Amino acid sequence: EADPESMSVGYGGLPDRDGHVTLDACIMDHTGNCGSVSFLQHIKHPISVARKVMDDTPHVMLSGSGALKFAIEKGFPKEELLTDKARKLWKEWLKDSQYKPIINVENHDTIGLLALDQNGDISGACTTSGLSYKMHGRVGDSPIIGAGMFVDNEVGGCCATGVGEAVMKTLGSFLIVELMRQGASPQEACEEAVRRIVTTNPNHTNFQVAYIAINKAGETGCYCIHPGFKMMKYANGENTPITAGSHLK
Ligand code: GLY
Repeated sequence: EADPESMSVGYGGLPDRDGHVTLDACIMDHTGNCGSVSFLQHIKHPISVARKVMDDTPHVMLSGSGALKFAIEKGFPKEELLTDKARKLWKEWLKDSQYKPIINVENHDTIGLLALDQNGDISGACTTSGLSYKMHGRVGDSPIIGAGMFVDNEVGGCCATGVGEAVMKTLGSFLIVELMRQGASPQEACEEAVRRIVTTNPNHTNFQVAYIAINKAGETGCYCIHPGFKMMKYANGENTPITAGSHLK
């Protein structure tokens, strides 16, 4: 979130079509507790605000000006998040103002994390500046528990990236966890969730969705519509990049 070179989250994220950087994030722990923020502006670390919503309030989601007010009360600094680089790209986009997200660039846009700790407990988080050049006010899948991310510590966890609308319509992360509950491996569950999007969206050739999943045994899976999505698996002190299989070859 703090890295301006990563233009799909936090500081340096690409703005909406009106030039505002608006952020979504959510977090869920092994007890089923969760917190999220949506349409949050001016705060570099929305995931930390989501954490505060989880830990310090009786609510799950805070949005927009309410989320900003809460963040400021919690001591987060109010900052300008639009960098010169992002402003330049936005001004360039304004010349045509064509809304056609570039696959694996402008719609591969969420940082999602799933963790299995030494006690065998699973938790997850995701954070994003959402689709570049979206309509002002648009909220994607990433702050929606069950869409952009879901954990059930009896079963496993899942995170999504890509065009949030397709993920929200199928409640993809919840679906994947429920498929694992019924016996699917993380890989099989990710493939089935992508298949549902593909079969109900004839225009799926125009957008990307990718899922990562983990179960209680530490088995993982990932799958996407278009080739090009990678996840990083960290285990036993080592990071291993894994290229996801894809529906389109
Ligand atoms: N997956 C992130 C978004 O659609 O905003």
